[in-house]
Amino acid sequence: MENATDSTHGSGNTSDPEEDRRSDSDFGPSKLGTKEYWENAYQKELDTFKDIGDVGEIWFGEESMSRVLRWMHKAKIPEDAAILDIGTGNGALLVELAKHGYTNLMGIDYSPASVELARNVLQAENLADVTVKEMDFLKCQGELKDFDVCIDKGTFDAISLNPENTEQGKKLYVQALKDSLKNKGFFAITSCNWTKEQLLDRFSEGFEFVQELPTPSFQFGGKTEPLPARFGV
Ligand SMILES: C[S@@+](CC[C@H](N)C(=O)[O-])C[C@H]1O[C@@H](n2cnc3c(N)ncnc32)[C@H](O)[C@@H]1O
Repeated sequence: MENATDSTHGSGNTSDPEEDRRSDSDFGPSKLGTKEYWENAYQKELDTFKDIGDVGEIWFGEESMSRVLRWMHKAKIPEDAAILDIGTGNGALLVELAKHGYTNLMGIDYSPASVELARNVLQAENLADVTVKEMDFLKCQGELKDFDVCIDKGTFDAISLNPENTEQGKKLYVQALKDSLKNKGFFAITSCNWTKEQLLDRFSEGFEFVQELPTPSFQFGGKTEPLPARFGV
């Protein structure tokens, strides 16, 4: 990638040729990669939700949820499939999944305010039986397993922007994902920081590319890319 520099990600960088090939260094660290940022953001959104019932930001917009749902329908994901929303934020995707008949849902997020907001949003929709857990996906240590589908909308992007241990974080993410999914499970990722080629490279070992769903471009703390991709393992 043009503008790739070894200094961009500080200690997370490496001179490993494999990492150079991935060209992961073409955007810098950002506050959007920190837990503090998300905790502040969701605390504000929680206050707003309690005040006026607004669920707040839906990353990549409502259409991004519809795209995932259309794909799940086409892929004939059964309604009782175990589905994990990685970095659930306000839980809006969980609400949509439940409204579309999916019954075995879990959301995790490392921000306590996000978890409280998601639980409040689900409660308001009479969906309090959907599980939302406070958990760092990079430190889940085998607690998450046997999911048929893992969905990520913006969380791998956020992790990639962490000012510390960026490369290690991405590797931990891939391992946590492998641990969480069943054999032949699906991973659906919506990303705007990574090109399709970079995602294919990052999720190459143990994953098989299934489908790319075209989308309008969107900016998230880095470059603008129209690139959600779907993977299966
Ligand atoms: C861009 S937001 C997307 C939120 C939600 N998926 C959506 O589409 O609206 C990124 C989310 O990832 C969460 N997150 C970032 N790093 C995480 C980690 N290591 N473990 C769990 N959640 C994380 C943040 O708290 C935030 O909710």
